[in-house]
Amino acid sequence: MIYFDNSATTYPKPQTVTAAVSNAVKQSSNPGRSGHSLSLGAAGKIFSARQTVSDFFGMENEQNVIFTGNCTTSLNMAIKGILKSGDHAVVSSLEHNAVMRPLEKLKGIGVTYTKAEVYPCDNDKTLDSFRHAINSKTKAVICTHASNVWGIRLPIERLCALAHAYGLVMIVDAAQSAGILPVDMHNGFDIVCTAGHKGLYGPMGTGLMLLSEQIMPDTIIEGGTGSNSISLVQPEEFPDRFESGTPNFPGIMGLKAGISFVSAKGYDRIAEHEFRMIRYLYEKFQRMSKIILYTPEPEKEYYVPVLSFNCKGYASEEVAEILNKNGIAVRAGLHCAPTAHEAMGTLKTGAVRISPSVFNKPADMDRLLFVLSKT
Ligand code: ALA
Repeated sequence: MIYFDNSATTYPKPQTVTAAVSNAVKQSSNPGRSGHSLSLGAAGKIFSARQTVSDFFGMENEQNVIFTGNCTTSLNMAIKGILKSGDHAVVSSLEHNAVMRPLEKLKGIGVTYTKAEVYPCDNDKTLDSFRHAINSKTKAVICTHASNVWGIRLPIERLCALAHAYGLVMIVDAAQSAGILPVDMHNGFDIVCTAGHKGLYGPMGTGLMLLSEQIMPDTIIEGGTGSNSISLVQPEEFPDRFESGTPNFPGIMGLKAGISFVSAKGYDRIAEHEFRMIRYLYEKFQRMSKIILYTPEPEKEYYVPVLSFNCKGYASEEVAEILNKNGIAVRAGLHCAPTAHEAMGTLKTGAVRISPSVFNKPADMDRLLFVLSKT
């Protein structure tokens, strides 16, 4: 199969990831819970994984790395841990439901939000639209680093500076950028949420919430941490404050191996490899009258390597079905991001999304073009 659905989850995984998961399943007990060798060994390995994540994201303190089940869980923990009744948030017009649904839910306790329009390739205008959306009740800016549908990249470093100038909390959704763009906590982000199973090449069921030194979100999950068990009150110390219950030890081991894989290759080289294929595809698509494109030619400064399109006369799901029958995996429809489709006018049609990985080859693009040309 030719796999172009890497924005949903990368496939295949590096062999080192598969081996790390398999070894963890074979040789582990519950980390940080017991005093025997298997448990202590697992706790040490989790500490080492935390250091790997901390180094990768430019963090000062590995205790501020929180392992979660996925990016959605991280975003729920961040959003619901920060926003309280009467607070207001500013989000971009390209957010995923992992941001929009928690915010809709919080409307029930009196939280409000404003969508700031994103102007592709015009970061100044995007900054202005965020600035205008801030009001006296605004507590946080919550923003995707890159759209999971359109690949549009947001100027998160500048948005973070804007948020801080107004005394606001900056929460970044890096689900589609970690592993191909620099995500450096030295920029002052308060909270970065990301998936472990996409550009970081870890297994599904892994996510991260990265916290700055200054931030102290409320908890939305409490329980056993293996520490200070006599107390019925959730510990304040990181990471225990946010990591109740048995962790996904095999997943975390796989995520550590995935990040090591990305570090060894270099995120910028991975991005360049994927960009070459997307640019090639875009160029060919421009000459195919049946293809509808929605974004300008993707430039690295303003895009990540993701391309969504439609075929005249076909529903996006029909195109995905035809491609699947020809051994090509893509994702069609709304990509759990109706807000991003609404912004582009594709809420009714959806779109067909191509998202390559480090494992795709230029010939994969030719095969896709061939099948589409016969459709
Ligand atoms: N949010 C993931 C995607 O874009 C699952 O496909």
